[in-house]
Amino acid sequence: MTIGRSIDQINEHTPTFHQLHQALLNWFSEAARDLPWRRVRDPYCILVAEVMLQQTQVDRVLPKYEAFLARFPTLQALAEAPAAEVIRMWAGLGYNRRAINLQRTARAICERYAGIFPQDVATLVTLPGIGPYTAGAIACFAFEQDVAFMDTNIRRVIRRVFTDPTETASERTLLEHARAALPIGRGWMWNQALMELGSLVCTADAPACWRCPLRDRCRDYTARRESDERLAATPAPKRIAERRERPFIGSNRYFRGRIIDALRSLPPGATLALNDLGPQVRPEYTPDEEAWLTAVIHGLERDGLVVWTETGVRLPE
Ligand code: ADE
Repeated sequence: MTIGRSIDQINEHTPTFHQLHQALLNWFSEAARDLPWRRVRDPYCILVAEVMLQQTQVDRVLPKYEAFLARFPTLQALAEAPAAEVIRMWAGLGYNRRAINLQRTARAICERYAGIFPQDVATLVTLPGIGPYTAGAIACFAFEQDVAFMDTNIRRVIRRVFTDPTETASERTLLEHARAALPIGRGWMWNQALMELGSLVCTADAPACWRCPLRDRCRDYTARRESDERLAATPAPKRIAERRERPFIGSNRYFRGRIIDALRSLPPGATLALNDLGPQVRPEYTPDEEAWLTAVIHGLERDGLVVWTETGVRLPE
């Protein structure tokens, strides 16, 4: 696999890249879903959308995104809200730690930058809860900078189109390919299009290559077609799942979610004693399991999601 100079040398104006850009951008113009975060450039709205979309499907995010922004319409409103309220508004999205991190980000921007969103990736990644993906997404989707970044969908498309299917490309290599392929001045649309292709066509388990605009330029497709032709009678090997799902019910994250759900249903400020919380979280709970429950609560406490007082556990103020 040759990267580095060879990638840098293929500039945006070579026919290969030009055709690739045309193919994907034209497809996106036709196929793109009309999603609310694609209609705005407000960095706060983009931040909220990207954090919600990190581990939750678009369909589930849509109503929550609207409701969250209606309740916290600005960065300042989110920064000033009680944490319990933010956690309540996160109900149904899962991974509640994201709610706390989102509010920490809002508070940090208000404190360090007087509420003005930083625009460059280098500054954005210094904010709590913002990693390279979210920083890149904000720089690109809010400030329309030509930045390359990776999420699961972009990574999969870049890997399939540009890298040798017989090798495992490193994250650095993938990012180099993504940077080299970025059309100058069209970064916003290009990255949205890569994401859209990855979620609608170039999916992990069942890529719909027959309706892919990049099929003729895709190394993975070409390799598979050649292999199919050679082994016409042999079924294609089962693709290795990109992410191995672990059972959710019964996992630590499942019980963390159950605890937060139980606390959300309390009136503001009310607490739940350990002996009442246990059976709500796990119907077959017995006091023997107190050490386990305590450990789960300590984890939530460390993440700032709950407060443990003498009377019991509650959401933070
Ligand atoms: N997933 C993460 N970011 C997204 C976006 N901007 N559009 C669609 N799906 C996404």
